[in-house]
Amino acid sequence: MTVSAPAAVTAEQRDFRFTPAHFRFVQQRIHQLAGIALTDAKQDMVYSRLIRRIRARKLDGFDAYLATVRDEGGDEIEPFINALTTNLTAFFREAHHFDRLKQHLLRATAPRPIRIWCAAASTGEEPWSLAMAACEAFDTLQPPVQILATDIDTDALAIAAAGQYPLTRLSPLSLDQKRRFFLRGRGAQDGEAKVRPELAARVRFQPWNLLNAQPPRWRDIDVVFCRNVMIYFDKPTQLQVLGQLRAVMRPDGLMFAGHSESFFHAQHLFRSLGQTVYAPAAAASA
Ligand SMILES: C[S@@+](CC[C@H](N)C(=O)[O-])C[C@H]1O[C@@H](n2cnc3c(N)ncnc32)[C@H](O)[C@@H]1O
Repeated sequence: MTVSAPAAVTAEQRDFRFTPAHFRFVQQRIHQLAGIALTDAKQDMVYSRLIRRIRARKLDGFDAYLATVRDEGGDEIEPFINALTTNLTAFFREAHHFDRLKQHLLRATAPRPIRIWCAAASTGEEPWSLAMAACEAFDTLQPPVQILATDIDTDALAIAAAGQYPLTRLSPLSLDQKRRFFLRGRGAQDGEAKVRPELAARVRFQPWNLLNAQPPRWRDIDVVFCRNVMIYFDKPTQLQVLGQLRAVMRPDGLMFAGHSESFFHAQHLFRSLGQTVYAPAAAASA
């Protein structure tokens, strides 16, 4: 996981030999494992992130390191993926989506808790924002909502599940939201805030690769937030993932994408409602 990217290292400054063949191998392997399509411009970034793993494993260079991720099932596969993901996120990112979500939640008709799948949850700011929005929509800390928060990056997901953040991360929240949804740390936790247990009860965390052949066991999902992850995928991978999302959603559900993601190539699966909100194709208008 990389929350803040390490400074890029130029070819002249490198301590380890990193050849175009090494980079091509990384490109292919991460595409195979996570669907992430790294452009050639990412060479310095890949080098900076993977030398941390080389050092952590006390290896002598990229040949030895890349051998550890060549085969399925190796114990370096997970840290390799975690090192190459980009986890940029924030509380209430693209705030208009949460207003739209609240309207949708209040119109839901299923005689059971509303299901929201946050499919690229990163370090948790997004699923916790979903939980807060649900509390606000229903004006209670126990809204009839269940949230499944998944991500391929197990390091990011551990931060998400802990639900504890430096106070500076909470700057997009109003004072009222901070008081209502967080507990301020004392002593060793000074300068941090943790989500209240009532909020934690609404969210379940689970590692999940969007490339998995089968989606999580959830069906009939009312809302999918799958934001700012498809930008890392090529079009065939996007189509594959969108097909799976569509398959587990209710026909009257909503799918929220990131601000720079558009799925005009997938109109048979999702129909745009504007502002990167989508409805399953052939569904009644939301
Ligand atoms: C830029 S963050 C977006 C976080 C959040 N959705 C948002 O919009 O603020 C992208 C996330 O996608 C995750 N990701 C990348 N490839 C994935 C895959 N194949 N399956 C599941 N998650 C993936 C990364 O680990 C990362 O946490």
